[in-house]
Amino acid sequence: MKNLLSMEHLSNEDIMRIIERAEQFEDGELSRLTKSYHVSNLFFEPSTRTKTSFEMAERKVGCTVIPFDADFSSALKGETMYDTVKTLEMIGMDAVVIRAKEDEYYNELLEGINVAVINAGDGAGQHPSQSLLDLYTIHKEFGSFEGLNITIVGDISHSRVAKSNATALKRLGVNVRFLCPPEWAGDFESYHSWDGLIEDSDVVMLLRIQHERHVVNKSFSKESYHEQYGLTFELEAKMKKNAIIMHPAPVNRDVEIVSELVECERSRIFDQVRNGVFVRMAILETLLEGR
Ligand code: CP
Repeated sequence: MKNLLSMEHLSNEDIMRIIERAEQFEDGELSRLTKSYHVSNLFFEPSTRTKTSFEMAERKVGCTVIPFDADFSSALKGETMYDTVKTLEMIGMDAVVIRAKEDEYYNELLEGINVAVINAGDGAGQHPSQSLLDLYTIHKEFGSFEGLNITIVGDISHSRVAKSNATALKRLGVNVRFLCPPEWAGDFESYHSWDGLIEDSDVVMLLRIQHERHVVNKSFSKESYHEQYGLTFELEAKMKKNAIIMHPAPVNRDVEIVSELVECERSRIFDQVRNGVFVRMAILETLLEGR
């Protein structure tokens, strides 16, 4: 693996290798990296979890983190993504972690760039490190993927998390169902009511409503969304004994999920954040080892 750009590029074996390595990091194993690689985090969209988690993971595997402030970078003077990354390569970076609002911004980095590129979210495209930490969380819970029923709920068409996870989960043998308002289904076949979905779900994966990506959302009402698609106490009570709740976060409390359920016993929402550090350590080690 040279880059991590999309879950479409990973085989099931690649995924399982990252999960196994993340498990070893969680058990206390140290990084195999034998030198201090230089890494920069280029976030052109807001982030709390992904940016901080990558920085923690970079430090834990022994990388030197070189600060990059997108709000004071020459991108604001019109510098292209290619020129920005090539410049960082010439300064001595070994890897860059990038979040940008353009779908597939990374296409212009496929030729002529010799640093490892890690996609930390491209528009409404992909979010592979989030998907890998979601898969790690599910694998940690159930020990395998085959035959699980996973219901992904919410803003499917705008969600890079839904797209990344759908690709990988289906390939790993999961029965993936989408539940969303009809206008948010995109290309996915979807359900528009919880009827029959909650009782047999092993995982209910809620998605954040991404107001920033909605061109027209004047008719949107948080209350009616919550009533129809939100995870309420009544729905939670119908979940299977060992079923879990996930959400990539940030959470719109009392919209996607009742606020009090965010930290209920079956919620793994904050565990996902913790797991993300081990998974990102595994990603960094895999990409940087032997460079
Ligand atoms: N889940 C996720 O990508 O969160 P941030 O936007 O805070 O990084």
